[in-house]
Amino acid sequence: MTTLTTTEGAPVPTGSAPFLSVRDLHVRFSTEDGIVKAVDGLSFDLERGKTLGIVGESGSGKSVTNLAVLGLHNPKSTEITGDITLDGEELTRAREKSLEKLRGNKMAMIFQDALTALSPYYTVGRQIAEPFIKHTGASKREGRQRAIEMLTKVGIPQPNLRVDDYPHQFSGGMRQRAMIAMSLVCNPELLIADEPTTALDVTVQAQILDLLKDLQQEFGSAIILITHDLGVVANIADDLLVMYAGRAVERGSVKEILTQPRHPYTWGLLSSMPRLSSDVNESLHPIPGSPPSLLNPPSGCAFHPRCGFADTVGAARCTDERPLLELGRAAACHLSAEQKQTLFTEQIKPRLG
Ligand SMILES: Nc1ncnc2c1ncn2[C@@H]1O[C@H](COP(=O)(O)OP(=O)(O)OP(=O)(O)O)[C@@H](O)[C@H]1O
Ligand code: SF4
Ligand SMILES: [Mg+2]
Repeated sequence: MTTLTTTEGAPVPTGSAPFLSVRDLHVRFSTEDGIVKAVDGLSFDLERGKTLGIVGESGSGKSVTNLAVLGLHNPKSTEITGDITLDGEELTRAREKSLEKLRGNKMAMIFQDALTALSPYYTVGRQIAEPFIKHTGASKREGRQRAIEMLTKVGIPQPNLRVDDYPHQFSGGMRQRAMIAMSLVCNPELLIADEPTTALDVTVQAQILDLLKDLQQEFGSAIILITHDLGVVANIADDLLVMYAGRAVERGSVKEILTQPRHPYTWGLLSSMPRLSSDVNESLHPIPGSPPSLLNPPSGCAFHPRCGFADTVGAARCTDERPLLELGRAAACHLSAEQKQTLFTEQIKPRLG
């Protein structure tokens, strides 16, 4: 386990500082309709050489969290509080110039939407080479060679010809791969991969995941992998953070969470996911309702309007009191440890097969 914090940002009781440390992060957007509390008190750590998976339904704050790590929010409309420290350097209050030096080099992101990351006006090769030239001082020729090498690694056919294409000449899946090449070109020490393989078919998906593993093995990179696909998480991540309404609701090792999940929301996610081993006719159990508006999130436990276990907790505790995430392996829920264990064993596990 590498994540050892409370949601309230308590200090980590370990010797050396983690490579990436996020403490009590809040990200709020000013909009015409009011303040969107997209991230609401999130803390986690990540060590070099480890992969942290982040899962949660659409709108739970996964991308917003990671864009904050890279310093990519518009400061005019975004309020960010809390601490983000990368290899000892504080990022939330860092100047744009320092962040620019880190981005694309020490830390890089594979964006959810390839089109937002690629400019239509420059060739794919130029865009892949640019961070390499900027951060290593390589010549244009060396940059082009490096771009061809990266296109080869991500499985683009005829890379020495396609390097001169513009993004519109690539298919959607090829653009996604070109963007992955761009993110990996400087061997980043922190790689944030936001749904990196959703647009890709299964063979290419496996190839990209292998590439991420290679990067990690060779350079000891730390990876944050955001995904809806728990199969991908099981394959590649060490630890897992489950997010709901801008907060972490459960954390632990991937094995712990996939075999002994403790939070009713995680139970819902797992029960609604098709299983490879399952019978085609086996029914899934979608979580009732939909994620809340972050303009005015529910009081207490944000999951309470959708949770089938609030009555087990009793009184109005779930609606009134926000459950905290304890140290280490933990779930932010008012159910007692015994209740979680019994409910999981008797009601949830039989559904998961
Ligand atoms: N620039 C912005 N201005 C206002 N609200 C925003 C902005 N960016 C994101 N949000 C809101 O913040 C919330 C979290 O968004 P985020 O993109 O982090 O979700 P996500 O977990 O990545 O979802 P998905 O799985 O769909 O990618 C959403 O309610 C979203 O509408
Ligand atoms: S705190 Fe209450 S509402 Fe929230 S997940 Fe636990 S039982 Fe459900
Ligand atoms: Mg997202």
